Amino acid sequence: MPATSVPTTPYDDQKPGTSGLRKKVPVFQQARYVENFVQAIIDCIPDRAGTTLVLGGDGRFLNREVVQTTLKIAAANGFARVLVGRGGLLSTPAASCVIRKHGAIGGIILSASHNPGGPEGDFGIKFNTANGGPAPETVTAAIYARTKALTEYRIVEGPDLDLDTIGETRIGDMTVAVIDPVADYLALMRELIDFDAITRLFGGGFRMRFDAMSAVTGPYAHAILEGVFGAEAGTVLNGTPREDFGGHHPDPNPVHAHDLYELMLSEAAPNLGAASDGDGDRNMIVAPGLFVTPSDSLAILAAHAHLAPGYAKGLAGVARSMPTSRALDRVAASLGIPAYETPTGWKFFGNLLDAGLITLCGEESAGTGSNHVREKDGLWAVLIWLNILAVTGKPAQDVVRDHWARFGRDYYTRHDYEEIDAEAAKRLMDGLRAKLAGLPGTKLGDLTVAAADDFRYVDPVDVSVTEQQGVRVTFAEDARVVYRLSGTGTAGATLRVYIERYESAPDRLELPVAEVLAPVVKVANDLADIAALTGRSEPSVIT
Ligand code: G6P
Ligand code: ZN
Repeated sequence: MPATSVPTTPYDDQKPGTSGLRKKVPVFQQARYVENFVQAIIDCIPDRAGTTLVLGGDGRFLNREVVQTTLKIAAANGFARVLVGRGGLLSTPAASCVIRKHGAIGGIILSASHNPGGPEGDFGIKFNTANGGPAPETVTAAIYARTKALTEYRIVEGPDLDLDTIGETRIGDMTVAVIDPVADYLALMRELIDFDAITRLFGGGFRMRFDAMSAVTGPYAHAILEGVFGAEAGTVLNGTPREDFGGHHPDPNPVHAHDLYELMLSEAAPNLGAASDGDGDRNMIVAPGLFVTPSDSLAILAAHAHLAPGYAKGLAGVARSMPTSRALDRVAASLGIPAYETPTGWKFFGNLLDAGLITLCGEESAGTGSNHVREKDGLWAVLIWLNILAVTGKPAQDVVRDHWARFGRDYYTRHDYEEIDAEAAKRLMDGLRAKLAGLPGTKLGDLTVAAADDFRYVDPVDVSVTEQQGVRVTFAEDARVVYRLSGTGTAGATLRVYIERYESAPDRLELPVAEVLAPVVKVANDLADIAALTGRSEPSVIT
């Protein structure tokens, strides 16, 4: 089967966003849409001749078709080898792991993360580079430029490959190796996590429920939790990947993982509840009767990571995205290690991880990870939690409460105003920026402004500057409000308001979150004039 060149005309909407090209399925179903984008990615891998590429996705609708197309295009473009997960599956963190382990030149990951799937749902294609992390802005800009200039794509036409049998086949001059999507990831987890301690924990009657949300982590969780640790059958809920995620929204939070959340707050709660998203990079942790906010979970992991073999030597440093609560900073201070504050978006951790400045990092948006891969890793977070519970012998809820008793508690909530008018959102942010200089020292409600700025990030490694990453106002009373516009929304604009307040008095650690934060919420609403400018008296989502 020889390679052929097929003439094509560019699409003008193939600009990758935060996590690659993400569009509705029918957009990807247009003639040559996938072919164009894949060829554009490949054209931006100049030294690809004779190299290995990794390929897989979260199993959503179109996954198999796009895997087949991508293999045929890769075969016509000089790669020696493609490693593809069986069934076309690879979770995002597992793809990152496989790229690094096999010295691949990069990977093409098919996913729209936590967005719904199915014929009317979303699909996505993203490119990760040789370090296993999402392509940096320079690369995605080059890909976009290429999509607008393409005149042809190259392909080896032929019958579809069998993706369901492990082993090697060839298309043209290229080898296609269908690999077990779990094996390399499992081997890496064995190096980092105390599997024996966790196996003993389950052997002693420990019970958990892990909701794979009918998405990609099902096979990983089945293999590790039930297969290796011997957790009871039924530990993994919704463990079979479905093309439409069973009609659900595979985002691990109390709203979309509602059944698990309710179970954990009920009398029948097992010892731990956890969930992961469509492509396996996000996580949710729920202790019996107690939801663990992602910001608290990150701080707790940092405080206990040394209990896991992979982190026994301690952490070089830690990082959190700016809107993530400052709970992590308190742990870093007590450990005597640096804490970095980055803009929202996992890619900003890449340089810090590559340079060895940090070991652990995370975001309020349910992402936690470490230097083991270059993506956030949902199941890894769950395994570290299990490792901590196994070694300390403490119930999960006590781990959280003990953490608050030691470090104090950063009460935290996020108010989202979805699908507001984009112009109004811009006016609101501009209005805030105009007020910043005059704010320090002023009294708003019961709070006194200590500092106010628009977050500007200078990358400590390459000294690149990223401006306007969110307006933050901190108060003398150890409270903080952050305003930013979502970078992932698809309709209109989404305003996110992150509200937090620190309490350390022993009798103020278990108060209702809304009650503690009410005065800060009022100040946040008034300062930005949210109701008047957006026409919304209430947020659309409160988490
Ligand atoms: C994606 C990225 C995360 C980021 C999140 C922010 O999930 O992978 O790193 O935190 O988007 O989304 P937002 O809608 O707040 O811009
Ligand atoms: Zn995801």
